[in-house]
Amino acid sequence: MAMENKSTTNTSLFFFCAIVLALVSLSSCAADADHDLRRLQHASTKVDGSLSFLIVGDWGRRGAYNQSQVALQMGIIGEKLDIDFVISTGDNFYDDGLTGIDDPAFEESFSKIYTAPSLQKQWYNVLGNHDYRGNVEAQLSPVLNGLDGRWLCMRSFIVDAEIAEFFFVDTTPFADKYFTDPKDHVYDWSGILPRNEYLSNLLKSVDSALKESNAKWKIVVGHHGIRSAGQHGDTKELVAQLLPILEANNVDLYINGHDHCLQHISTPNSPIQFLTSGGGSKAWRGDVRPYNPSEMKLYYDGQGFMSVQITQTQVDIAFYDVLGNVLHKWDTSKDLYPTPMNMYMYM
Ligand SMILES: *[C@@H]1O[C@H](CO)[C@@H](O)[C@H](O)[C@H]1NC(C)=O
Repeated sequence: MAMENKSTTNTSLFFFCAIVLALVSLSSCAADADHDLRRLQHASTKVDGSLSFLIVGDWGRRGAYNQSQVALQMGIIGEKLDIDFVISTGDNFYDDGLTGIDDPAFEESFSKIYTAPSLQKQWYNVLGNHDYRGNVEAQLSPVLNGLDGRWLCMRSFIVDAEIAEFFFVDTTPFADKYFTDPKDHVYDWSGILPRNEYLSNLLKSVDSALKESNAKWKIVVGHHGIRSAGQHGDTKELVAQLLPILEANNVDLYINGHDHCLQHISTPNSPIQFLTSGGGSKAWRGDVRPYNPSEMKLYYDGQGFMSVQITQTQVDIAFYDVLGNVLHKWDTSKDLYPTPMNMYMYM
């Protein structure tokens, strides 16, 4: 009898503690969502602090639609540029994300495809709209990182790589049509609702993180395009809500996927370069919207990927096709320190 009592007390004590712990961790999660994005450090391994990386988007098709050929060329270019990491702009697994942490698509579309030695680096992944049609928690789960140590996917987060800071933004919840007209698709909005609160907290967090950043180069990555001549075109919600924040905070590059193409748009009314790398597998859609030719630096409706090399003073961008041919290059530079003359001009 006495023993039974004791074990009941122990059990209730255990549950009491578990509930307290759960409440404490819940409240700290809520605080995180209100204020700060998760911040990761990516220390450069190079003496001069320079960085290089590849960007691929819209890829997971078990190697089909030239996914394997793109992966092969990424391996070759990745070796040549001695890359530090890879960025995925989302739509990681077609057609409907992952079914769970045990979905074989993770291996078949990721681990067994990007096998080149140069691609055995950290992958920073965002979610695309197709990923939201599956089990979102699975892609975010640390279990996947246990299966393949390269994998890291979060909704919105920051990577501080010293000379450059990367702001990864979860763009799918911005697009009204997935909520108002989902067609036959079922989206996994757990963790997103109430939507307005989620979006306004996210915009506030991105704004304050950009304001606090001292990085020489600021790069924002999302799945949906802000400017695009592809099938989907501009994402009007991002033009209205995200773009003003990026422009107010001296963002250099906005990089996205979603349209299955490679694209570089540069407009006189924005200092931001709009770059689409969504050619990781199925492409050749053939439908291009009319766009001011003087703003369209590249539109390539086939498969491929993009590279970026960054030093304190220079950014070099290149786009590659499925055979590794360079389709387009672009670069820009900044003074190492603003000269007195420049500082005067800034005032
Ligand atoms: C694969 O790439 C080649 C070369 O660009 C292209 O001709 C072919 O149509 C592509 N195949 C598929 C299935 O997209």
